[in-house]
Amino acid sequence: MDSYAATSGNISTAPQDTTTVRIKTTAIFTCILAALAGLMFGLDMGVISGALHFIKRDFAVDDTTLGVIVSIMTAGAAIGALGAGFLSNSLGRRLTLILGASLFVAGSLVCSFAPGVGVIIIGRIMLGLAIGISSFTAPLYLAEIAPESIRGAMISTYQLMITIGIFLAFVSDTAFSYSGRWHWMLGVIAIPGVLFLLGVTALPESPRWLMMKSRHKEAESVLHKLTGNHETVTHIIGEIHDQLKTPQRGWHMFMENPNFRRSVGLGILLQIVQQFTGMNVVMYYAPRIFQNMGYATTAQMWFTAIVGLVNVLATFIAIALVDRLGRKPILVVGFVVMAIGLGVVSTMMHMGLHTPGQQRFTVVMLLIFIVGFAMSAGPLVWALCSEIQPLKGRDFGIGCSTFTNWAANSVVGFTFLPLLNGIGASKTFLIYAALNALFILFTLALVPETKGISLEHIEHNLMEGRPLRRIGR
Ligand code: BGC
Repeated sequence: MDSYAATSGNISTAPQDTTTVRIKTTAIFTCILAALAGLMFGLDMGVISGALHFIKRDFAVDDTTLGVIVSIMTAGAAIGALGAGFLSNSLGRRLTLILGASLFVAGSLVCSFAPGVGVIIIGRIMLGLAIGISSFTAPLYLAEIAPESIRGAMISTYQLMITIGIFLAFVSDTAFSYSGRWHWMLGVIAIPGVLFLLGVTALPESPRWLMMKSRHKEAESVLHKLTGNHETVTHIIGEIHDQLKTPQRGWHMFMENPNFRRSVGLGILLQIVQQFTGMNVVMYYAPRIFQNMGYATTAQMWFTAIVGLVNVLATFIAIALVDRLGRKPILVVGFVVMAIGLGVVSTMMHMGLHTPGQQRFTVVMLLIFIVGFAMSAGPLVWALCSEIQPLKGRDFGIGCSTFTNWAANSVVGFTFLPLLNGIGASKTFLIYAALNALFILFTLALVPETKGISLEHIEHNLMEGRPLRRIGR
């Protein structure tokens, strides 16, 4: 899990013992930021599922409009992620994060006070932009400022907090569902949004960005504050200097180098695969799925909260196993579990759920699908996407795959209800089950094993023209 090592410019835990305390403080600080950014991502993803039912009731909207309310946010996130590269380069990482956090608070409030669907949609676009900007800039900032020793832990923290955010949103939705107050469901996430805003306002600018802009004095002063040691500052400044000799040349490299096009293509495919597992169908529409299984509103909400909890817990499986078993076997097992889980859900819904036992069994199989995702494609796709890109094209490559994550997310979110209404729940889940089965072949044919392999080695193999599945070991 060393992908953050990739984006270079980070603060290394260099020489002196005297700096340890400061570096520890920085570590805690940056971990909290990672946690909050992940939490925002998750809250934003999760919050809408519980509100849809009540929005439909209050405004008598059809399923197409509900699909737009869901997926307009992810479309906004795709645009936000695209623009974030430019913003974080010109405004700096810190101001970009402040912009993202402000949009997050404003978007939540706009949704909460919305008198009609049009305003909800505007609020959802703002939330999308916020989350697109933050989901690009926060990891970039973290990569530049975090001490090497905690980088791996931070990737896990980030993904884990996404799932915790989704879970908390589901729980809060459940609590508000008793009164049917969807305004509160959508508004309450402004509170962690304000915390995030305060957090990013207190951040120092990234020393690496300051150096990129030739603001060397300011970079030094930030580093002094972070490390408190003159020798360490000189050491890090030297490192950043060296790294800046390898400027990002993403677009040129993409046009000129077919091997780089292969790694960018693989990153894009990995994110498409992650989204077309169907995970977000459950994240957005779980209550509706439980309604289809024959459950009443309260049960729908509680089961949705359980889905969120299982998603959090199963992420620990990935964290525990990823550096021991490797990415590829875990991905294969994950897709097998997902294909079986959804295949059984589809079969059960085809036969009809006539008894409480049949209903419960189907819920369990849906939860097994969630376990399959959370232990594999959820965290591993993000890790792989940063590990496979060569240094000079890393920002570009990760930008392309992050954009694809949101764009594909939007397609999945928008098409689910039309599929459900058009061909029914059973066939819809069958399609996703079949796709997961296909992804087993995709993993075997194209995904490299990157466990314990240095990023330089992966880059060397890629540029030598080795088949993608062999650019790792
Ligand atoms: C995905 C999200 C998904 C989440 C679920 C992330 O890795 O990118 O689309 O909602 O996992 O936990």
